Amino acid sequence: MSQSNNSHEKIERNVGLMAVLIAVAVSFGGLAEIVPLMFQAEAIEPLPGVEPYPALQLAGRDVYVREGCYNCHSQMVRTLRFESERYGHYSLAGESVYDRPFQWGSKRTGPDLARVGGRYSDDWHRVHLDNPRDVVPESNMPGFPWLAGTPLDGATVARRMRGLQALGDPYSDAQIQQAPADVQGKTELDAVVAYLQGLGKHAPKGG
Ligand code: HEC
Repeated sequence: MSQSNNSHEKIERNVGLMAVLIAVAVSFGGLAEIVPLMFQAEAIEPLPGVEPYPALQLAGRDVYVREGCYNCHSQMVRTLRFESERYGHYSLAGESVYDRPFQWGSKRTGPDLARVGGRYSDDWHRVHLDNPRDVVPESNMPGFPWLAGTPLDGATVARRMRGLQALGDPYSDAQIQQAPADVQGKTELDAVVAYLQGLGKHAPKGG
């Protein structure tokens, strides 16, 4: 029996060793796909104009996550003709570098929201979030009437920004100190509307 057959036999008779070697072999596939992404500028650098969320939009994003809007809405326009005809330019990684966690998703009970900014007026959103059927009679989206009556807590928003700064988001200390004043007197509804109106603002134009 040759030398190589011997070592094969050793591996096949040793379950632990075999498991380790299988794990190593399988991870090569993952490494080959994932590691280059970590260094590709277009995947990790913001598109021109993309900045960390201003205080009010950041608060709105937190409400969006808390209320589970992502259970029905994706924020990821795919690279397919019928998607870009409907929504606008397909999504690019550089748009969501400051999204922690990102809201790409794939569940679409409602439409994708990656390009919804500017599509409707603030007032439309206010009515729609309070009771969607007031503006879209056939809608099965739930209402979120409590948002209008819930004031934002500026100290919490500032702490959130501080946390993101610690993770590397380029917030300035001045921006963070200013946050409580920025959201003073605003409600969760104001915040979600500001967040929605900012979505897709820096997307490339066209399909
Ligand atoms: C149970 C599923 C469901 C949930 C949860 C949900 N939506 Fe919707 N949403 C829909 C459906 C269905 C529509 C399409 C009908 C309509 O416009 O109301 C829609 C439409 C929208 C639209 C209009 C999009 C467009 O392009 O016309 C916006 C904006 C929106 N939702 C925001 C939100 C936000 C913000 C939340 C969380 C606070 C949320 N939705 C939660 C189902 C949902």
